[in-house]
Amino acid sequence: MSAQTEQGYFTEENSAEVVIGRNAACTDERLKEVMAVIIRHLHAAVKEIEPTEAEWFAAIRFLTKTGHMCDDWRQEFILLSDVLGVSMLVDAINHRKPSGATESTVLGPFHVADAPVLPNGANICLDQKGEPMVVRGRVTDSEGRPIAGAKLDVWQANDEGFYDVQQKGHQPDFNLRGVFETDAEGGYWFRAVKPKYYPIPADGPVGQLLARLGRHPYRPAHLHYIVSADGYETLTTHIFVPDDPYIDSDAVFGVKASLIADFEQRDDPARAADLGVGNPFWEVAFDFALAPR
Ligand code: BEZ
Ligand code: FE
Repeated sequence: MSAQTEQGYFTEENSAEVVIGRNAACTDERLKEVMAVIIRHLHAAVKEIEPTEAEWFAAIRFLTKTGHMCDDWRQEFILLSDVLGVSMLVDAINHRKPSGATESTVLGPFHVADAPVLPNGANICLDQKGEPMVVRGRVTDSEGRPIAGAKLDVWQANDEGFYDVQQKGHQPDFNLRGVFETDAEGGYWFRAVKPKYYPIPADGPVGQLLARLGRHPYRPAHLHYIVSADGYETLTTHIFVPDDPYIDSDAVFGVKASLIADFEQRDDPARAADLGVGNPFWEVAFDFALAPR
C-alpha cells in the first residue's frame, strides 16, 4: 500500500506508512508534512529501541510528570527541549545570521517584560552584593556602523547564581535587570556585579533525567540581552564569562565561541572611583552587531 492510502492493516513492517496514510485527507499541508516526519522518525526509533512494555510505560510516566511540573512560571517541556539541544537547534534554524552579525542563543525562563528603563551608567545591582563589574560596548549594524537609540534589555543572576525572581523577598525586585538605550555613537554602559554559574531548575523530571544520564545541571555564568532597533532583527543572546568552570559543558548548549566576552580584572582605585564602583572591579567589553530585518 502507498503512503497516500487511507486504509490498510497495520503490521510491524509497514507501521509508519499505514499511520501516515491515515492522514491523507488532512487539508493543512504543513501539519500533514510535520506529522508524517514525526511518525516516520518515531516509528524508526521504536523499532531500533524495541522497548519492553515497562520501558514504554516509564516513558509515558516521565512525560506525564513533565506536564504536571508545568505552571505559569515553570515550563518543564521547554527545559526538556533545552537539555536535549532542541531549543538551540530551533534557534540556529530560525536565526541564521549574515556574516558580521552577533550570534543568538536561548532566551531562558527568567526574562521579565517590564524591567526599568535606566540611563547609561546606572548600577543594576540593587543590593551591593558581589564583585563590581562595568560593562560597555556599542551596537552597530553588520558593517560596523553605529546604531543610535538601540534598546538593550539586560538581565543576569547574582554572585550566588540566583535571579531576583527565584529569591523574591531576599533580592530586591528587578535586581540585576534594566533596559538601556544606545547614545549617538551606538554606545551603552552599565554597572553590575560579576554573575556566577547556576543550575537550571533540577527538582523535576528533567533534573532526574540529567542525573540518570550522569550530566550536571549547570549553566556557565552569563548576562542575557535582548537587543532591538527599528529596521533590524531583534537579537536574543548572552555574553559569557570566559573563566567559568562550565564554559565547555553548558547544560543547555547555549555557549558559542563568539559570545565569550573579555572580562578584565582591574586594580585601579582612581578609575574605580571615577566609574563609581568598588576596587578591584571587572571591566567587560562587548559589541553587538544587528542583522538587517
Ligand atoms: C537561563 O539562562 O536563564 C536558562 C536557560 C535555559 C534553561 C534554564 C535557564
Ligand atoms: Fe540565565
